[in-house]
Amino acid sequence: PVNKPLGGKTAIVTAGPTIEHIDPVRYISNHSSGKMGIAIAEALADAGANVQLVLGPTPQQTSHPGITTTRIQTAQEMFEAVTARFSQADIVVAAAAVADYRPANVADKKIKKGEAQLHIDLEKTPDILRSLGDNKTQQLLVGFSLETNNEKEYALKKLREKHLDMIVMNSLADAGAGFNYDTNKITLFDKNGREQSFPLKSKQAVAQDIVSAIIELQHA
Ligand code: PMT
Repeated sequence: PVNKPLGGKTAIVTAGPTIEHIDPVRYISNHSSGKMGIAIAEALADAGANVQLVLGPTPQQTSHPGITTTRIQTAQEMFEAVTARFSQADIVVAAAAVADYRPANVADKKIKKGEAQLHIDLEKTPDILRSLGDNKTQQLLVGFSLETNNEKEYALKKLREKHLDMIVMNSLADAGAGFNYDTNKITLFDKNGREQSFPLKSKQAVAQDIVSAIIELQHA
């Protein structure tokens, strides 16, 4: 039906930050609130999709009846939750701010204060989106790109190297865009070379634009 263009489709959305434990009381994380990803999950569900939301630690949540939420903490847990659902998915939108590095060893007891400097060795986390791009079959894959500089160059590099169908660029250089705001300002780049820039809008309205672009791309 016209008003449920994604009826019968299954979508996975990642949202929020991950946290990477240092010891039982400390962690490494970032400023993501999950608002952008939750708005996308709701817009996809409004369009009729059955949505699996994989959500990092945040007080934000959704009670939309079309959304099933799975809570995770770490990049590894997000990787496992997404991978387990991937073969059933038609659409994946990766809006989460996943930690790129984690402590190589997690201390099982609280690290005590001692020397003037403390060094923590970090190792790479799994790149969830890259792994999906390498293993995709029918799925339409949408990534995000968040940068502070060289935004377009980095966004196009991620679109290409992670084998995405579309990438959503947002920049911390734009006032009112990015982490935690109720607004965002995006440019969409798709694999066919189409580029669409939008003004600053509420994250709900941004999510509508992204979902409209997904629907158009499905029929392209
Ligand atoms: O949550 P809000 O407060 O509403 O803020 C929204 C947002 C700024 C977090 C969101 O709009 C956004 O930009 N999300 C992506 C943030 C990010 O980590 O971007 P990136 O350019 O570092 O990552 C590129 C892509 O790879 C992203 O789709 C990311 O989900 C994915 N990724 C990154 C690292 C990793 N190990 N695995 C991944 O899948």
